[in-house]
Amino acid sequence: NGYHVAVVGATGAVGTRMLAMVAQSPLPIASVKALASKRSAGKTVKCGDQELTVEETTDDSFAGVDIALFSAGGAVSKRFAPSAVKAGAIVVDNTSAFRMDPEIPLVVPEVNPEALRQHHGIIANPNCSTIQMVTALEPIRKAFGLKRVMVSTYQAVSGAGQRALNELFAEAQAYLDGDVTKVTPEILPTGGDKKHYQMAFNALPQIDVFEDDGYSHEEWKMIHETKKIMMGDMDDPELKVTATCVRVPVPIAHGEEVYFEVADANADADAIRAVLAQAPGVVVQDDPAHQVYPQPANAEGKRDVFVGRIRPDEENSGFFHMWNVSDNLLKGAAWNSMQIAETMHDMGLIQPK
Ligand code: A2P
Repeated sequence: NGYHVAVVGATGAVGTRMLAMVAQSPLPIASVKALASKRSAGKTVKCGDQELTVEETTDDSFAGVDIALFSAGGAVSKRFAPSAVKAGAIVVDNTSAFRMDPEIPLVVPEVNPEALRQHHGIIANPNCSTIQMVTALEPIRKAFGLKRVMVSTYQAVSGAGQRALNELFAEAQAYLDGDVTKVTPEILPTGGDKKHYQMAFNALPQIDVFEDDGYSHEEWKMIHETKKIMMGDMDDPELKVTATCVRVPVPIAHGEEVYFEVADANADADAIRAVLAQAPGVVVQDDPAHQVYPQPANAEGKRDVFVGRIRPDEENSGFFHMWNVSDNLLKGAAWNSMQIAETMHDMGLIQPK
């Protein structure tokens, strides 16, 4: 007696980690199904010690499934999530397909678990850069009030998928071999746009496509998802958020410089550090005298959000800086998705059939 789980996108950068999160979950798991496109049907993938044979995703894939974790792109979610819900599964969707639907909860379990009670079968997993930021900001908001957030990101290439990661490595190799032009970029900065640029030994201030107002869609997501998760409304006017998103040639784990204004005039860096030290899912690494601060290379493979460099803006009272780092494929995607399922189980919102 346990949950029947399906992972859609099981061969991808996030999907392979979803399978690992399922294997490590304390939930009772009766079976796991690995789904992807027709291209990879018949391949095998690992779920802990188990080898699973990948199957093509079809409308019939979800019979008997209780929990379906989706990470195969927005089009696949729009196409198949309704079939999974119809078959009786709850869907945790890692794409942006449903995030801004006011009827669909957008959840980070440390921040707004109560939103899960409103679900109608689909729960949206937020964007990776949003998740790690709100996990660190919510305890600050609760303790001191939060008025304004200005974030600049340093985002890892794995956020654009396994093929983007392969492109980075091929370019880095070609660069070290003396001719980076031997590799023609085909994916980065984003598969959805016309031009592609070198990522190795470079930085690209474009993640996802641009909106008409000059913001990238990733920046738009950080603004509106943050408001929906923390304030319950994607257009909340009380919390001001602005963002600049930059891709850097780091394989895994996003970094973020978060500049924020609190409401409480008595807040100081020590008090913020003390609040974050108690916060679930957050680890404080903040000792500049001993050069201790979060780094992507140390965060890879971990589920926490690491925070450091917490300091006041000496010339602007109430404003602070914080640097945070988290594995974008785990807390930013696979772990937050599985954590949503585990939280729903703990809240009694789902049970094995
Ligand atoms: P496939 O390996 O069959 O292409 P990433 O984000 O790392 O690029 O991974 C994308 C994931 O989405 C892969 O597992 C990929 O499977 C899967 N995928 C892509 N297109 C489809 C589709 N039409 N139906 C199901 N899965 C898909």
